[in-house]
Amino acid sequence: MSTPEKRTFPAQLVLPPRTISGKGTAVGLIDECLVFGKRGVVVCGGSLQKHGALTEALDRQASSEGIVTFQHAGGEPTVAQLEALIDAVRAHGAEWIAGVGGGSVMDLAKACAGLLNAPLPAIDYQNGEPIPASHVPFIAVPTTAGTGSEATIVAVLTNTGTGTKKSIRHASFMPRLVILDADLLMTCPPRVIAHCGMDAFVQAVESYVSRGSTWITEQLALKATGMIHETLLPMFDGGKPEEAQRLLEGSYLAGLALSNARLGLVHGLAHPLGARYHLAHGHVCAVCLPPVVSFNRNAMGDKYAALSNAVGGDFQKECETMLERLDIAPPFAGEEVIDRQGIIDETLASGSTAANPRDVSEADLIQIIEALFQG
Ligand SMILES: [Fe+2]
Repeated sequence: MSTPEKRTFPAQLVLPPRTISGKGTAVGLIDECLVFGKRGVVVCGGSLQKHGALTEALDRQASSEGIVTFQHAGGEPTVAQLEALIDAVRAHGAEWIAGVGGGSVMDLAKACAGLLNAPLPAIDYQNGEPIPASHVPFIAVPTTAGTGSEATIVAVLTNTGTGTKKSIRHASFMPRLVILDADLLMTCPPRVIAHCGMDAFVQAVESYVSRGSTWITEQLALKATGMIHETLLPMFDGGKPEEAQRLLEGSYLAGLALSNARLGLVHGLAHPLGARYHLAHGHVCAVCLPPVVSFNRNAMGDKYAALSNAVGGDFQKECETMLERLDIAPPFAGEEVIDRQGIIDETLASGSTAANPRDVSEADLIQIIEALFQG
């Protein structure tokens, strides 16, 4: 009996309608946003101050155009921060929302645009209430290359009351416009480049081997794997604008792939571990990658060879070399496992784990967790 042909498209393919890519393009942000309406809010992080040309352009145009800037306090966005932002944006009467920053700023701004006109409090949607479609345009301008949030329909929010991180998602959350500008990445510190870049790399790999992958997401994910592998180390060591542009584009392609194919066990583990140990998401993803690749290897089939080809060497070894070269320390080695059963239960319940190419049992997880925590 012949095997059924691989699906070409996912049941629903969601892509940003317009993406501008090139060094220096972000200074045109406000002009681009004015297409969506006169009143808007730009959500940004502290790092925006490093980008003189962009802040000048924002200050100049914002004052005359009914546009306000909202600075995120930092850290991964919480439901409480989102509800405060929604109140402020409603009071301003904004017609669009732009996010200029890393994954946290992006998720906060995206969730705000997504729920701006929703009738219930944000917490209810995080707890599973069906999300209505949003008509509020969201414009994404990443200043890090990692989460791929500028290319996804997902926003991850932390509930500080329960200490859990959960995503909210809706096809209408996809950014209406994305601007990928190397200038914004050039001032990103090496540690952030390493952690975010490894998040992007893991997203490319996991979406490539995901059970939800289709022909189109495989093309995006495999290309992203090679682009991120080729540019992440040079960018960690300083890097040129051309490499920054390519890393941003690779991260964006990985975001498109994951948004349409889901992820795998690394991301299933990363949320419960990250929440308990208060570690950067990309840091946790990076250190979980080698044991998960080893676990998945036989289930990857021909894709293991394709990944090795994309990185120019045995894939498992290349993953380990990347961690060494990026100076990513194993944060769990020799530590006590906090709430082992909770970590296992959350990992098994995760949609990312469900998309992993190999079935994952409780016994498998115990072994992987042991490997991570071995001193
Ligand atoms: Fe991630």
